[in-house]
Amino acid sequence: MSSELLQALGLGSTNAGTYLGQGQWSTTTDAGVLESVNPTTNAVIATVHASSQSDYDTVIERAQAAYKIWRTTPAPRRGEAVRLCGEALRANKDLLGSLVALEMGKSKPEGDGEVQEMIDIADFAVGQSRMLYGYTMHSERPGHRMYEQYHPIGLVGIISAFNFPVAVWSWNAFLAAICGDICIWKPSNKTPLTALATQKICNEALKDAGFPDLFFLINDAGIELSQQLVDDTRVPLISFTGSTQVGRIVGERVARRMGRSLLELGGNNAIILDETADLKLAVPGIVFGAVGTAGQRCTTTRRLIVHASIYDTVLSTLVKAYKQVEGKIGDPLDAANLMGPLNSKAAVDAFLKSVEQAKAAGGTVETGGMALPREGNFVLPTIISGLKNSDAIVQHETFAPILYVMKYDTLEEAIDMQNGVPQGLSSSIFTNNLKTAERFLSAAGSDCGIANVNIGTSGAEIGGAFGGEKDTGGGRESGSDAWKAYMRRQTNTINYSDSLPLAQGIKFDL
Ligand code: UN1
Repeated sequence: MSSELLQALGLGSTNAGTYLGQGQWSTTTDAGVLESVNPTTNAVIATVHASSQSDYDTVIERAQAAYKIWRTTPAPRRGEAVRLCGEALRANKDLLGSLVALEMGKSKPEGDGEVQEMIDIADFAVGQSRMLYGYTMHSERPGHRMYEQYHPIGLVGIISAFNFPVAVWSWNAFLAAICGDICIWKPSNKTPLTALATQKICNEALKDAGFPDLFFLINDAGIELSQQLVDDTRVPLISFTGSTQVGRIVGERVARRMGRSLLELGGNNAIILDETADLKLAVPGIVFGAVGTAGQRCTTTRRLIVHASIYDTVLSTLVKAYKQVEGKIGDPLDAANLMGPLNSKAAVDAFLKSVEQAKAAGGTVETGGMALPREGNFVLPTIISGLKNSDAIVQHETFAPILYVMKYDTLEEAIDMQNGVPQGLSSSIFTNNLKTAERFLSAAGSDCGIANVNIGTSGAEIGGAFGGEKDTGGGRESGSDAWKAYMRRQTNTINYSDSLPLAQGIKFDL
């Protein structure tokens, strides 16, 4: 089954991992090998040859050459290139969605949903290609005109994570492409196959229509080439998605060379349920948010802050719902399953360690709390009660399906708890009280980049700007005006008068 899938996507059991441009894939075989491991069985699906130093040099050189052509290609024409990529992804949605499920371990509908996000951002980017608007200003000087324009920034390095192995690349790459930039992608070393398949699908679409190479791909066996990319002054923008720990290093290093970084890091997302919450909406919202993608979204619901008056009811309803999920854990490619495995053995160990730490801090495991005794990296979705928001384990993002349930009495207390973590990505409240909803969304409410009412923390649409504050890194990707991150702004003043008046009324008579 998996070899047929690979073949249909143009992949084999061993693969070149570097797209050098000009239709060429590197023949390097001595720079290390990445093994793509199926998290359902821990068997190797296929291998990918990592990029060598000379591959890296070629990629940068060719990306620079492609940029010279692309930066002056009219933006709506650039949109046409992305439209073709979106069409090609539509045609391959089922296959690529299955490969995402196979290699990453998320359920097939979620794998397909991820490819849908790529298609959606492609559509968005096509429209945006005709809307790279700048302001015009009224000059204080007679006979002068001022305006601003957005120019491409140049080469964009995209370092993406295993949990959204293709969508996150597309949020960056499709916007960067319509902005006139050339992208170099370094995918997670846990999910090289989905990156290769995506690169091939887009290459094909671009080549057939005669477009230059917009997207390059490198794979790094260690971290040397990634570090080089981060430090490379020829790459003015680095977009990094991953842990806060690594993101901090990336941000510091890029800042040191005065580059620009776009950071999309960890979350520790909470849902508040007030006393008026509609549990028919809240319970599925919580379960999807906490258990979906086996708790491996950066927007996963990790904390539940429940009004004391409904706490017992909510907890027992959730435990029942979790027991239903327990019967639907298994191979993500089986449509009957709601939850797949964690991505790696190391993730299972981290899950078990967090459960132990939670217990040691006085937490009660209400349901779950263990790994499943079968092959693959399966764990039970877990609810833990009895901890304080300030407990170290609650403050920490464990990339696994663990939900900490806590009680509150006043809205102020609930908002303080919601905001009382280092991360600031996603948040939500379930309430039927208008004033409570508005307070939660006000300047004195949630401090996160995403704040929702009566929907959960995960599953954001591509139309909004995606990202968060504090340890989440501050970057915004995807919709709204996130495109501006991929361009440089230029203010232009034009004098069409016959004199040279100076600004601020300064006189400088010669
Ligand atoms: C991520 O986990 O890195 O909001 C991105 C969501 C998805 C994206 C998550 N649209 O859950």
